[in-house]
Amino acid sequence: MAILITGVAGFIGMNVAQSLLERGENVIGVDNLNDYYDVNLKKARLSLLAKYTNFRFELLDISEPKSLNRFAGEIDKIIHLAAQAGVRYSFKNPDSYIKSNLAGHINILEYARYISNELINIVYASSSSVYGASKNLPYSVADPVDNPVSLYAATKRAGELMSEVYSHNYSLSQTGLRLFTVYGPWGRPDMSAFIFTSKIFSGEPIQVFGDGQMLRDFTFIDDIVSGIISASDRSQELKSSNHEIYNLGNNKPEPLMRYIGLFESALNKKAIIEFEPMQAGDMKETYADIDSSKNDLGFKPITSIDEGIPRFVNWFLQYHNLK
Ligand SMILES: NC(=O)c1ccc[n+]([C@@H]2O[C@H](COP(=O)([O-])OP(=O)(O)OC[C@H]3O[C@@H](n4cnc5c(N)ncnc54)[C@H](O)[C@@H]3O)[C@@H](O)[C@H]2O)c1
Repeated sequence: MAILITGVAGFIGMNVAQSLLERGENVIGVDNLNDYYDVNLKKARLSLLAKYTNFRFELLDISEPKSLNRFAGEIDKIIHLAAQAGVRYSFKNPDSYIKSNLAGHINILEYARYISNELINIVYASSSSVYGASKNLPYSVADPVDNPVSLYAATKRAGELMSEVYSHNYSLSQTGLRLFTVYGPWGRPDMSAFIFTSKIFSGEPIQVFGDGQMLRDFTFIDDIVSGIISASDRSQELKSSNHEIYNLGNNKPEPLMRYIGLFESALNKKAIIEFEPMQAGDMKETYADIDSSKNDLGFKPITSIDEGIPRFVNWFLQYHNLK
């Protein structure tokens, strides 16, 4: 049997797949290779995975009903990471969020229901953005999350609620993971680590929103991968219900200006900064309460931004043949 990873050509999907392949798991990865960002980066991630004989890739769109039925009899775990990501883009192209995050999520659940005899569990990605305008810090999974401030966040919360229905009605064992600003090698070009590195390197100004006062719980990819895999390994041991939600964050909000300073040091170049007001959909601070993730999943983020940012910058320069 294999583990199905959706969004396998994406930043987090590729890193999770590689880690599982390294430990000898069979992985079937799916992705629609959409052009939200440079498709060559997605293809380069897939080339890295293609070296493993225990990996198989299928090009498909999870928003198409029954697109996954072809794998019946082959899958016993699902790690569902495919989504239309990005907060700001949801103001421009709401349809892609409805397709991938609502229709896509329900199709995963329908497929899980269809193979429920063989299925052990589903782990799926939610987001810290569901905390929206909440003023309770650190963000706890026990807090109400009824005030999303972007369509992206609303679709991620809707995914959690749809999962709750399917666990209740069809006893599907599920773990939802609210991820907090993930960065690291093979990261997304629309995220700050990529944008800052690229612009500081080429001497272009960087836009800093919210006058640089924002705080973010930046979480290194390796820590997120460990959290996702331990949720997949352990979710058959769920205690009180068959659907649990956890935060995966660094539990250490960092001021944006300190974060930028680390890119400057790694590149040995000063950033030209243009301060801009906060953008719609942005949250001033993200800060994860990870007590239950530590207790139940053994989640332990160990990579500080002092270590993680130079590792990202190093990858960025190598990937673009700049060193
Ligand atoms: N990176 C972060 O900081 C972060 C934070 C919170 C939550 N998340 C969530 O984690 C998951 C992975 O994020 P990522 O950063 O790797 O994003 P990503 O965009 O790099 O990866 C998502 C992948 O899903 C694929 N995809 C999108 N719609 C699809 C569809 N309809 N059918 C098949 N494939 C489809 C894309 O082509 C892409 O390769 C997403 O669910 C995202 O919402 C990420």
